[in-house]
Amino acid sequence: MAGEETHKGRDGGGVATAEESLSVTDNRTGQTYEMEITDGTVRAMDFRAIKVSEDDFGLMTYDPAFKNTASTRSEVTYIDGDAGILEYRGYSIEQLSEHSTYLEVAYLLIYGELPTKQQYERWEHDITHHTYVHENIKKSMEAFRYDAHPMGMLLATVGALSTFYPGSNNINDEHEQCMAAVRLIAKMPTLAAFAYRHNLGLPYIYPDNDLNYPENFLSMLFKMAEWKYEPDDRLARALDVLFILHADHEQNASTNAVRGVGSTQVDPYSAIAAGVSALYGPLHGGANEQVLRMLDRIGSTDNIPDFLEGVKNREERLMGFGHRVYKNYDPRARIIKRHVDQVLDVTGKSPKLEIAVELEKRALDDEFFTERKLYPNVDYYSGLIYEALGMPTAMFTVIFAIPRTSGWVAQWLELVGDDEQAIARPRQVYSGYREREYVSIDER
Ligand code: CMC
Repeated sequence: MAGEETHKGRDGGGVATAEESLSVTDNRTGQTYEMEITDGTVRAMDFRAIKVSEDDFGLMTYDPAFKNTASTRSEVTYIDGDAGILEYRGYSIEQLSEHSTYLEVAYLLIYGELPTKQQYERWEHDITHHTYVHENIKKSMEAFRYDAHPMGMLLATVGALSTFYPGSNNINDEHEQCMAAVRLIAKMPTLAAFAYRHNLGLPYIYPDNDLNYPENFLSMLFKMAEWKYEPDDRLARALDVLFILHADHEQNASTNAVRGVGSTQVDPYSAIAAGVSALYGPLHGGANEQVLRMLDRIGSTDNIPDFLEGVKNREERLMGFGHRVYKNYDPRARIIKRHVDQVLDVTGKSPKLEIAVELEKRALDDEFFTERKLYPNVDYYSGLIYEALGMPTAMFTVIFAIPRTSGWVAQWLELVGDDEQAIARPRQVYSGYREREYVSIDER
């Protein structure tokens, strides 16, 4: 081993074997440091021991956008981006979308195990009986401008929920945690549907306890003068599958936002409002909205080659393609693609589907995309289903937020119970001015 002296990482903790450690030589000093490798990671804090002098702060790692930083240990969701694998608590997304329901998946994410029949009945009963919101929540939503973006309405209202449940401040209380989980999962479709009806100037529809979770959401969206709304089973099932596919995705941008804000020990409603905000962005949940706008702009399959040239010249992005983690076909996109046809059988053909299929085919035949491992992601086809269901594009991200709530809650619960976590507060490399003299305004 090179260097005069070897320092051991992690508070002097021993290094087990040569294969499980990393030797780093600081060429400024010639010293070598040994760091423990655990689960394919080294601890950023171990680098702090690397100094040129006693008063040196020590080395930091620089990782804007967390491209190679694990921020937590998690048992919730497993992704193998190269192999295109997604599992919730060890169950593959393919099995869950085939056999399970969204509510069962939400239980699995939160409690770590699939429910027994009895547990499931209790869970479904609890969710069903918390779908109503306080009338003042409804009134506050009515106060938004007639054309307010429904995602803006949702994020403000989720934050406002904290004011109705002040006990949720007690973040370590198990009962409060359970109530927050149930309330958030139960009320999210109600808030989403109210936001939709608001945009249309239609009266808000209250939840119907006779319907299951996706059916009730369809009822709150579409019920008009009929006594009882009767959802089409195929549409309700397609929606439920979309909910399953969107329920969690490990440390994505919005989950990171929930964990970052949650690390301050704020109440779960406020932490999850941060997740809704992050999801609003066009590079995250907003991408499905952008996919539909993109397909509209392309207009016809004849225009695809020109469009792809524009993407390759970096004039625009192929929305719904590429992923920070998947460097292969996103398994969720594959499942959604199968459901598009089933939904269109009920709702009628969409000319955009033809453009989407052809665009995908041409992109996957093109070196620009294959070299960069850009494949369709979950958002590529989901917008087509939402549109077929009669949703305006502005509602797409709102619908994404409904199931993602269970993932956010599961990750928040994990954060709260994790002794290794503390307030999330990154460091910076300061590159601005120092020690300038203040100049009065009339002398500038
Ligand atoms: N169209 C064209 N080029 C792309 C695209 C795209 N959609 N995505 C990535 N690239 C290129 C990018 O220009 C870069 O090329 P180069 O190395 O020559 O500079 C290379 O591929 C790597 O891209 P990146 O931006 O460094 O990758 P990232 O991991 O930072 O970004 C992403 C991931 C999802 C933000 C990005 O792929 C993107 O903007 N996609 C379009 C938006 C989208 O569909 N977002 C939904 C993500 S899935 C939903 C979810 O899970 O939240």
